[in-house]
Amino acid sequence: MGKVGFGLALSCAVASCTIAAILVSRRVKSRRKWSRVVGVLKELEEGCSTSIGRLKQVVDAMAVEMHAGLASEGGSKLKMLLTFVDNLPDGNEKGTYYALHLGGTNFRVLRVQLGGENSLILGHEVDRQPIPQHLMTSTSEGLFDFIVSKLEQFVEREGNGSMSMLDKRRELGFTFSFPVKQTSVSSGILIKWTKGFSIEDMIGKDVSECLQQAIRKRGLDMRVAALVNDTVGTLALGHYHDADTVAAVIIGTGTNACYVERTDSIIKCQGLLTKSGGMVVNMEWGNFWSTHLPRTSYDIDLDSDSPNPNDQGFEKMISGMYLGDIVRRVMLRMSKESDIFGDATSRLSVPFILKTPLMAAMHEDDSPDLKDVSRILKETLEISDVPLKVRKLIVRICDVVTRRAARLAAAGIVGILKKIGRDGSGGIMSGRTKSGETSSRKRRTVVAIEGGLYTSYSLFREYLNEAVAEILGEEMAPYVVLKVSEDGSGIGAALLAASHSYPSIGPVNVAIK
Ligand code: BGC
Repeated sequence: MGKVGFGLALSCAVASCTIAAILVSRRVKSRRKWSRVVGVLKELEEGCSTSIGRLKQVVDAMAVEMHAGLASEGGSKLKMLLTFVDNLPDGNEKGTYYALHLGGTNFRVLRVQLGGENSLILGHEVDRQPIPQHLMTSTSEGLFDFIVSKLEQFVEREGNGSMSMLDKRRELGFTFSFPVKQTSVSSGILIKWTKGFSIEDMIGKDVSECLQQAIRKRGLDMRVAALVNDTVGTLALGHYHDADTVAAVIIGTGTNACYVERTDSIIKCQGLLTKSGGMVVNMEWGNFWSTHLPRTSYDIDLDSDSPNPNDQGFEKMISGMYLGDIVRRVMLRMSKESDIFGDATSRLSVPFILKTPLMAAMHEDDSPDLKDVSRILKETLEISDVPLKVRKLIVRICDVVTRRAARLAAAGIVGILKKIGRDGSGGIMSGRTKSGETSSRKRRTVVAIEGGLYTSYSLFREYLNEAVAEILGEEMAPYVVLKVSEDGSGIGAALLAASHSYPSIGPVNVAIK
C-alpha cells in the first residue's frame, strides 16, 4: 500500500471511529434521558401509591372528619352542610315539575312528569347547554339572566309559544352544585365558588333569590320550591328508585357526596327536629384533607397555581376538572428533563390544555399502535411522530393518575359507610346470631353515583368499584351496591320540588334503617 493509500485508509478509520463515537455518545445521552424520564414516572408511581393500608387510613380520616364537621361549625375542612331535606320522594308525587341544573361544564333545563301512586316517572325532557366561559366569571345578574332566558325558551317550546302556557304557575327545583349554607329547603347562601366559577358579587347572596329575581324580570310565573346540591338531587332520585339508597356521590367536573344522617348526630345543631329523625347532609367532600392522602409535587403546584389555593384538595386529586392537568404537568416535567416530546415544552406549559376527556381517550386507547394517543398528541399538543414506547409511557401516566383518583374516591365512599355503620367494621360477626344466621346488621346499602368520570370513563369506574370491594373485603362487599343515577341531580331536584310543593303529601320517613 502506497503512502496515499495508507493515508486514505487512516482517515477512513478515523472518520468511522468519530461517527461511531458520536453514535455511541448519542445513544448514551438518549439512554440517560430516557432513564431520567423513567425516573420521573417511577417517582410519580411511588408518590401516587394507594396501597390498601393507605386507603384504610383515608377511610378512617374521612369518618373522623365527618364527626368533626358535624360536631361544630368550622370543626373540619368538611363543611357537613344541612340541607333541610328530611324526607325523600317516594313515588307519590304527581304532576309536571321543572328543574334547572347549574354546576359543571353544562347547564341543564328539565321537565319531569310524575304519575303519583308509585307509577314512577312518566317521562322527562332535558335541554343541555354549555355555559359560555365568560359568564362563569361575570356578574350574578349576567349569569342568571342567561339561565332564565334558556328556561323561558324551554317553557315556550312546551306550549308552542301560546300565552296560556306561559301564564301557568310552575314549580321548580334548582340544582346548584356549589357549597351553599341552606336556610331552608328552598333557600341558601353561596359560601364560595369552585370548579373555575368566580363571580365575586354572588358570594354571601341567597341563590334562590337571585334566580327568583331573574324569573320575575322575565315575567315568568315560576317558584323555586327546592334549592339542592347535585348530590342531594342524585340521592333523591336514587332513593325514589331504590329505598336502600343512603348516600350519593358525584364524580364529574367536581366531586362531592351527601348522605342521610341522624339528626341527633348533628351536634352542631342541637335541638334539630325532623319527623323522620334524619336529614340529608351535604358533605362538600371536595374540600376533605388528610395527611394520609398521597400528594405529589404536581398536586402542590396545581393547587398553588389555582384561583383557590389550599382549597378543595380532595377534589383537585380526583375530579374531571383536574386529572388532565395533572397528566399535563407530568409530561411537562418529562419534556424539561429530556427531548422525548420534541419542542413541545411551550404547548405543555399551557394550563388545562389537556382536558380530562382527552386524557381518558388516550388511557382507553386499545389499538395496538395507540393511534388515538398519536392523534390527540398531534391535535392538542402539536407533538408529532411520537415513538410507540413514548406513547405507552403516556398511557401509563394516565393510568397512575386515574387509578389514584378512583381509589381515593372509593376510600371516601367507604368512609361514609363507616360513619353510618354500614361498612361492616362494627364487626360483621356481631351481626350474626349464635346459629350463624345473618342478622339485619348486614343490610344492603346502595350508593347512587353520577358524573361523567364515573359514568363515561370505564377504567375509572372499574378502579373505583374494585377498590370499594377491596377495602370492604369479600364478606361485606356484596352488600354494597354502587348504582349509576343518570341525570339524577336534575330529575331529583324536580322530585324534591314536587315533594315540597304539596303539603298534603307530608314528610316521608327516611330515617336510617
Ligand atoms: C362543589 C359541590 C358539588 C361538586 C360536584 C364541587 O366543586 O363544591 O357542591 O356537589 O362540585 O358537582
